[in-house]
Amino acid sequence: MENTAYDFGLVGLGVMGRNFILNVADHDYKAFGYDLDPEKVSALIEEGGDKARVNASGDISVFVNALSLPRKIMLLVPAGKIVDSVIESLLPYLSPDDIIIDGGNSFFTDTDRREAYLQSKGIHFFGAGVSGGAEGARKGPSIMPGGSREAYKEVQPIFEAVAAKFNNEPCVAYIGPKSAGNYVKMVHNGIEYGLMQLTSEFYDLLQKGGQLNNNELHKVYTEWNKGDLQSFLVEISAKIFEKKDDLGQGQLVDKILDKAKQKGTGKWTSQNAMDIGIPIPTIDIAVSMREISALKQERVLASKKYDRGTIELEKKQILIKKAEKAMFFAFIITYAQGMHQLRAASSEYGYELRLASIARIWRAGCIIRAALLEDIAQVFEKDKDLANLLLAPLFVEKIKDSVGAARELVTYAAENGIPMPGLFNSLSYFDAYTSERLPLNLIQAQRDYFGSHTYERTDREGIFHTDWS
Ligand code: 6PG
Repeated sequence: MENTAYDFGLVGLGVMGRNFILNVADHDYKAFGYDLDPEKVSALIEEGGDKARVNASGDISVFVNALSLPRKIMLLVPAGKIVDSVIESLLPYLSPDDIIIDGGNSFFTDTDRREAYLQSKGIHFFGAGVSGGAEGARKGPSIMPGGSREAYKEVQPIFEAVAAKFNNEPCVAYIGPKSAGNYVKMVHNGIEYGLMQLTSEFYDLLQKGGQLNNNELHKVYTEWNKGDLQSFLVEISAKIFEKKDDLGQGQLVDKILDKAKQKGTGKWTSQNAMDIGIPIPTIDIAVSMREISALKQERVLASKKYDRGTIELEKKQILIKKAEKAMFFAFIITYAQGMHQLRAASSEYGYELRLASIARIWRAGCIIRAALLEDIAQVFEKDKDLANLLLAPLFVEKIKDSVGAARELVTYAAENGIPMPGLFNSLSYFDAYTSERLPLNLIQAQRDYFGSHTYERTDREGIFHTDWS
């Protein structure tokens, strides 16, 4: 085989890897894949059609030697130990300045460790968040690469070619040093959890409070997707409602067990938000709801013990209108929390994040793409130091217009026992964040009372302690 011929290498030829490499090849870059599974190797060669354009091997030395220098090798393998073992198996064959890109959902501290390790060996390491699922990988994902700015120039043309486009702008940008790319992808997923929770609880509200059937839900979500709520998750929900069940009568959604799984990125977002002291309660509750959903047996048992009475039905059209506004309110709050976390993480970890640029590369290709991101990009463009979306005049207007509907539906859901914790938490977060005075002075008094933890006063400087007894 001719040496140093291929522009891009990819390890891990599962669906994502295969689709990504075919996408690279579609953009006139010659790409070479590697996988230990011979079936995946032959599947790619077959689908690629022309070996001079797309080739693959199960032999790591053949793979590495086929790549032009500096080598650009992307890993699309499951996060965790497997990333380390792939790196170890590549190392003996690499040359100085080669670049390894981890395109999986790796935990950001693992990326920092790997980057430092590989730097000591003269190899550049990128943690690149890739969003958009299998279809995104094939047709254009949103890519969030973090690592050395200099080395990024080597991969930039390829990433810009394969990424999703929004108004012809590629949905990829250099995110920042070290693990910035993985961190931003983690928070993307936290926001994803929040939006998914919201789209599902409004579905519950419309079913229970307005007796909408799947066909009506399909129509409502389709309409919503033409307005403020225009987003990938609303769009696919509309499609899900109308999907027929191949194995029985009616629509498939009704037959799907109500236990949501998770791979951990939403949980990491919440855990890290707590570590850096940023409140993201809409995302937190979205993680908790997946956990509650998993307790199916207990839920069935508990449901028999508590009678909720009958739900007071609302007029469909009124409920749909309020729901659209309230969901928009909660969408804004979810993005506000995620962006707030990014801003704090940027100074905590030295990521130098540009929030406007992040919002821009989320406008297409990724799971949380939404019309709202255009406005989010705009406000951070205007004020890159904006502390919270809720402080931007554009969002003050949007919130003022939608918070009333959120309040009405929180009341209605509470009175009728419809669980809408994403909406409740969003509203409580908003009410707390916009309160000049909170009752936490009492907490400080209690802390000082039982633990001499001291407190500050509103009327004079200094630290105080009182002998409360
Ligand atoms: C994406 C997604 C993806 C994620 C899945 C599953 O941006 O393409 O975020 O990376 O792995 O959505 O996540 P959970 O299993 O945690 O729901």
